[in-house]
Amino acid sequence: MSQDTWNAVDAYLSEQLVGSDPVLTAALAASDAAGMPAIHVAPNQGKLLHLLARAIGARRVLEIGTLAGYSAIWLARALPAGGKLVTLEALPKHADVARANIERAGLGSVVELRIGKALDVLPALVAEGAAPFDLVFIDADKANIPEYITWSLKLARVGTVMVIDNVVREGEVVNAASTDASVQGVRRMNELLASNPRLDATAIQTVGSKGYDGLAIALVVS
Ligand code: SAH
Ligand code: DHB
Ligand code: MG
Repeated sequence: MSQDTWNAVDAYLSEQLVGSDPVLTAALAASDAAGMPAIHVAPNQGKLLHLLARAIGARRVLEIGTLAGYSAIWLARALPAGGKLVTLEALPKHADVARANIERAGLGSVVELRIGKALDVLPALVAEGAAPFDLVFIDADKANIPEYITWSLKLARVGTVMVIDNVVREGEVVNAASTDASVQGVRRMNELLASNPRLDATAIQTVGSKGYDGLAIALVVS
């Protein structure tokens, strides 16, 4: 199996089941034009997030790591009237592109984009007494994933679903001796998911247009 095969299958699946969308296409073009990395979720992954949000009837979604707003648009489009997506982005340049993309999608009143490091903004959300989120998508720097989960738990309720992206790292996740902070972040995440009694979790490996990686899903159970 090769990246070419994964690309062809992703293209086929996305053509059959996802379709093309001028707003999402424009968002990626704007991201490219701004010189931002193409590390957004794939179209079929974006739709997975969207369907998951709808399946659980999510009204409030938290995203950590906005980039150009591609996954944010997928998630925000899943919300009912009055729903809200709060998305956190450290880099003002990324936030500027994301804001324009979100406005173009007609989602400016649904999405609250907060600029700042997530480890600063998450405590602020807790201090503000933010209502619990129904779904949390964690997709920022990987070294801090465990901390993002711990903070998200303070913004969660029983039944909240967390999705964590990029948790396989081309298989490096099994290398306990890795000196890669992202790998160690994911390994600490798995220890947390395994040991925290408030969470029940699984993770799967994925291949596709974004290479070989994986995602974890955790359910808040208490
Ligand atoms: N979820 C996006 C992709 C996010 S890429 C999508 O699928 O469309 C990761 C983003 O997290 C980048 O924009 C990066 O600037 C941001 N990021 C990195 N470290 C961060 C931090 N400490 N706090 C908030 N955002 C961070
Ligand atoms: C990177 C980040 C992501 O969220 C992703 O999906 C792929 C790559 C990165 O930082 O390299
Ligand atoms: Mg990601």
